[in-house]
Amino acid sequence: MEFHISLAGKGDLSARIYQQLLDAIVDGRLRNAERLPATRELAQRLQVARNTVSAAYDRLKAEGFLVSKAGSGTFVRAEAIARAKPRTAPAGDVKPRAFWASMPTPLPKDPVVPYHFGTGIGQTSLFPLHTWRRLVNRELREATVQLANFGEAAGHPGLRTAISRYFGVARSVRSSAADILVTQGAQQALDLIGRVLIDPGSTVAVEDPGYPPARQLFMSLGARVVGVPVDADGLQVAALPDDARLVYVTPSHQFPIGTTMSLRRRTQLLDWARCRDAIIVEDDYDSEFRYADRPLEPMQSLDRDGRVIYVGTFSKTLLPMLRIGFMVAPASLRPALLAARQLSDHYGVYSDQAALARFIDEGLLAAQVRKSTKVYAERYRIITAAVQRELSPWLDLMPAIAGLHVCALRRADCRLDIDEVARRAGAAGVLVRPVSFYASTATVRQGLVLGYGLIPAERIDRGIQRIAGSFRQQEASQDNRARRTGIRTATAFESR
Ligand SMILES: Cc1ncc(COP(=O)(O)O)c(C=O)c1O
Repeated sequence: MEFHISLAGKGDLSARIYQQLLDAIVDGRLRNAERLPATRELAQRLQVARNTVSAAYDRLKAEGFLVSKAGSGTFVRAEAIARAKPRTAPAGDVKPRAFWASMPTPLPKDPVVPYHFGTGIGQTSLFPLHTWRRLVNRELREATVQLANFGEAAGHPGLRTAISRYFGVARSVRSSAADILVTQGAQQALDLIGRVLIDPGSTVAVEDPGYPPARQLFMSLGARVVGVPVDADGLQVAALPDDARLVYVTPSHQFPIGTTMSLRRRTQLLDWARCRDAIIVEDDYDSEFRYADRPLEPMQSLDRDGRVIYVGTFSKTLLPMLRIGFMVAPASLRPALLAARQLSDHYGVYSDQAALARFIDEGLLAAQVRKSTKVYAERYRIITAAVQRELSPWLDLMPAIAGLHVCALRRADCRLDIDEVARRAGAAGVLVRPVSFYASTATVRQGLVLGYGLIPAERIDRGIQRIAGSFRQQEASQDNRARRTGIRTATAFESR
């Protein structure tokens, strides 16, 4: 790479060249054994005398930062690199909008543990890497690369056709290729929807508990986000704020409780949206993996008034790393959504979109979903049995027929602090999140959310037993505490 040297400013030219090379070596921009341009070449480029450059090089050589090798040139010395300090941007004191102070950066990463019941992730080793590489390679030919210069904001046309067909058959989504907007994952779909529909201060309703990245995103766009309670039938429509402009829901597999929104509730929500002139965002993030009878069709297929935006993703069926999702929006919103996409990042990664189109067209997505469903169905069977067997003194398993996680809520007769149980399980090598992790208010019923996308089938029983152990420890510590306070009360009573 050609190293940039600026001669702007005043003073000795040679000293300025020296200083810039030295800075670059010390902060690691010039790496060990990197070859510097010949003095004649650099002098020509900078339009200075060759001696000016030679003097700077000689000084750096004398100080041990450069070394000359006869016949091959001048190089950065390895020992100099040991002293390298990373170069950082200035600290500055400009502050972002107040919202950003509430967001942790970087977002905390899951620890590596033997028993990982985290949510949101599937088994990456199920991904057909070789096939994918072959398909992407095919797209990285000159003709295709040239085509990508003129990408459409709605996404690769072949992929839109494939998505429309696949989800029309597999999920009864009502769409034509022209209705599909390919996005960088579900998250970008939510971002574009938010930009197009949310005025600063307008009300957005989300499920409580619900999917934190959706809630946080809408807040970051200036919405007043209101958490609405969820029961066995799904979001409680009667509890929606009257002025909600947008309602974000996960009807197929409520995140994180796991239940399916009943048909009655769906109809009620659609009626509500029609009367209030609101939009429903239906996030159908993981219902491709199904373990029981046919699920209800998406709300989008019940919608006759253009009130529902359907959001899908390939993060679960394939890989989150691909960052490919899509949405189907009513025609009235499409021009604004397309414009927002264009302003955001134009159209995403065309080669991957084209590869995915072929992947779907060749029937490989359907095969992949079948293969993964077999793996996850076994885990689902083991985990639901283990939760009922080991955790029933404290928790009730919520019904779930799809996806990659289940949820178990605290029984009415259990008084244990479930957050504390999850912390104890963490100390025993188990990652499991309490429901409160996903809640926006403290009134949400306590419980545990158990993801099985990552944990191998043979580890599930042991992991759940460890969680049961954490419940017992927590019980014992509460009993001790109760006994201690009991003794203290008794002592205080006796001494009176
Ligand atoms: C409720 C919900 N929606 C969407 C997603 C997927 O998001 P993306 O497509 O941006 O990876 C997830 C992933 O964890 C999720 O849990």
